[in-house]
Amino acid sequence: MRTLEIPTAEVFEKLLAPSRYKGAHGGRGSGKSHFFGGLMIEDHLAEKGMLSVCIREVQKTLADSSKRLLEGKLSDFRLGEADGFKVFRDVIQTPGDGAIIFQGMQDHTAESIKSLEGFRRAWWEEAQTASVRSLNLLRPTIRAPGSELWFSWNARLKQDPVDVMLRGPEKPTGSVVVEANWRDNPWFTAELEQERLDCLRIQSDQYDHIWEGGYLTVASGAYFARHLAEAKAEGRIGRVAADPLMTLMAFVDIGGTGARADAFTIWIAQFIGREIRVLDYYEAVGQPAEAHLNWLRGRGYTSDRCQIWLPHDGKTQDKVHDASYEGFFRQAGYKVTVVKNQGRGAASMRIEAARRLFPSMWFNEAKTEGGRAALGWYHEKRDEARGIGLGPDHDWSSHAADSFGLMCVAYEEPKKPSAEWDKFKPQKVA
Ligand SMILES: Nc1ncnc2c1ncn2[C@@H]1O[C@H](COP(=O)(O)OP(=O)(O)OP(=O)(O)O)[C@@H](O)[C@H]1O
Ligand SMILES: [Mg+2]
Repeated sequence: MRTLEIPTAEVFEKLLAPSRYKGAHGGRGSGKSHFFGGLMIEDHLAEKGMLSVCIREVQKTLADSSKRLLEGKLSDFRLGEADGFKVFRDVIQTPGDGAIIFQGMQDHTAESIKSLEGFRRAWWEEAQTASVRSLNLLRPTIRAPGSELWFSWNARLKQDPVDVMLRGPEKPTGSVVVEANWRDNPWFTAELEQERLDCLRIQSDQYDHIWEGGYLTVASGAYFARHLAEAKAEGRIGRVAADPLMTLMAFVDIGGTGARADAFTIWIAQFIGREIRVLDYYEAVGQPAEAHLNWLRGRGYTSDRCQIWLPHDGKTQDKVHDASYEGFFRQAGYKVTVVKNQGRGAASMRIEAARRLFPSMWFNEAKTEGGRAALGWYHEKRDEARGIGLGPDHDWSSHAADSFGLMCVAYEEPKKPSAEWDKFKPQKVA
């Protein structure tokens, strides 16, 4: 048997030892694909008769797969039929009657996925497009003793399922995840370096995502991206603490219930003089009201220190619970203010208020991270054909933006009382 000495970039060394989940994320040209490709061949050489699958969310043809890369690795390592490797049209035969196959998860059903039981390696390339459904199908299927799930990707959104799974607060047991970028790749080519520098020069707004593995931000039409960048540059995102003598305020956006379960979001803030301290952020989908209450209490936002502000739909009867949220939080001992600011133009009012107030805001960096990611993404939907804006895009980020806007509307006292203001004025806390 031949043994191989495969050089590995230092950044990937942690992924060499066996572990149930292995992840490598980062920007272009960091060597993620080459690393896992090499490891795949190495593992098949060491383990006779092993079965592996290379996965994408969508694989229309084999050209979309990692097959070419693996073939390249075989030739780099000078491995061929004498060593037990043979390349067929849609499969690579490996030593001891093992095999590497290539599949798209979208083609699988709960039934068909069972064909992968017994597979020891599943390598998911470009895993940023993995859907929750596909991940849930694959994870329990790869169940053989010593089996491993590998993921390589360039992150798009913090909310993408692979990011939630491998970079979120609750990672699967036995996960090892590394971040790799171009500077970690000892084989980074001159051509890639030129591409990188051109990107920096010509598409500087996308450079961080493409080359440094940063999360995507919307370049145009984002309502708060610039304001957040300014807050960061001015040092207003950092260790911001609550003033223990001042009231805490919780600004809520109520997600839909039942089939249309949207995110339920809360921003915790204090208004201190002209300063708005944004202290914490919470988001949950499909949870009962009790879960929100538990979060508030668990973080110390108890009814003696914290008041709750709801948008007008807090008054409507929530179908899942007997009481409306207003009643629910009152029952729990909180002072509740309902802001009657809904109706036409409410979203743009909230955006305007938020933009005006942004320069006086200070954010707790660690606790508001998820909320700030949503604010950075929140953007205008556009009709490209007609070149017109269609108002805020209602997506994963809009609930964070709505409760944030509620905070801003609640903060703004009118310079001159007007009929317009009456519609937006928060009710005074009794
Ligand atoms: N182990 C290696 N051996 C030889 N060359 C390598 C190795 N790793 C990386 N390279 C070189 O660096 C280049 C980039 O590596 P790779 O394609 O693996 O990056 P990546 O992180 O998958 O990037 P992308 O996000 O663009 O897919 C390769 O085209 C190859 O030239
Ligand atoms: Mg790659």
